[in-house]
Amino acid sequence: MGFYNPPLENRNPEEYLLMDFNEPPLPPSPEVLEKMTEFFKYHIHTYPIYGDLLEQLGEYVGVPTKNLLLTNGSDQGIDVILRCLLEKGDEVKMALPGFPMFQQIAGTLGCCIDGPQFSRDLTFPHQELKASVNGKTRLIVVINPNNPTGSSVSLEQIEDLLKSFPDIPTLVDEAYFEFSGETSVPFLSSYPNLIVIRTFSKALCMPSLRLGYVISRPEFIKHLQKIRGPYDVNMAAVIVAIEQLKHPEYWQGIVKHLLEKSKPALEKFFDERQVKYHSNKTNFMLVESKDPATTCKFLKDNKILVRQMSPPISHTFRMSLRMLPDMKRFMEVYSRFLKS
Ligand SMILES: Cc1ncc(COP(=O)(O)O)c(C=O)c1O
Repeated sequence: MGFYNPPLENRNPEEYLLMDFNEPPLPPSPEVLEKMTEFFKYHIHTYPIYGDLLEQLGEYVGVPTKNLLLTNGSDQGIDVILRCLLEKGDEVKMALPGFPMFQQIAGTLGCCIDGPQFSRDLTFPHQELKASVNGKTRLIVVINPNNPTGSSVSLEQIEDLLKSFPDIPTLVDEAYFEFSGETSVPFLSSYPNLIVIRTFSKALCMPSLRLGYVISRPEFIKHLQKIRGPYDVNMAAVIVAIEQLKHPEYWQGIVKHLLEKSKPALEKFFDERQVKYHSNKTNFMLVESKDPATTCKFLKDNKILVRQMSPPISHTFRMSLRMLPDMKRFMEVYSRFLKS
């Protein structure tokens, strides 16, 4: 069974520039954090309540609240969906490499995830994925855009999967939706086999509070409610999420900065030095290197953490986009590396 064991230890933000986990570069605004502190002065002794957040999230997503389930990070969304749909021996199809939590959770259920690999230029293997579906397939997973490759899947391709396999649920993981601007949610009215998951960990700046959500038809949401605990989402996450949704201009400003300042500056830097990279619509970049282990070590020795990738993309490392001053620090160190 695959074990997702990310190297979480010794990531001290005082010591290192953290570019290894696709994290947001900044916390929510001081006003938002103030609201959380205020709330906990008086309410830490009561169980969480979710109504206000669900209402607001419904407006943000554009669906009624009965189509939504809050989860403890989208990791828990993956967990409850797979536990609801799979039995031992069932198969899940997904283009590889994808986000490793899918394999880990399927493994605990005695199920196998396999599927075609992304091509060398990292395009989504749409026809190959379709051809891999068989009588044992109980779930198709599409990560759009995909982590770690950054590859986008077109809405036409997603609709084609939903239409071609009406009896098989298709889960679309939209963890990077606020960066890509593309969503499958409108397909919900035509395709009851669609399940979408999203997270507050990326653009909404709150990975440590653990909040994600599932968007699907109400009957399926009801099934998932029986698997998720009634209070699995904590109230700190709820308070911060409500404020983040009320004041989107703050985190949208960060997204805009990353996409319109940090990303072009980094791409220009790599272009000028003939460093190959894979451009995408996320908050991270996949960069090619002749010797990724040495590259990552040089960066780490210079107090920058990036993530070395495994086969079949072991010729790359993955780095998060950060605000421009941090990107400049990366570029200064990387240009020293190129000259070394
Ligand atoms: C594609 C994808 N799905 C899900 C997750 C999990 O996010 P969360 O922090 O909401 O559990 C991540 C995190 O990196 C991701 O990249």
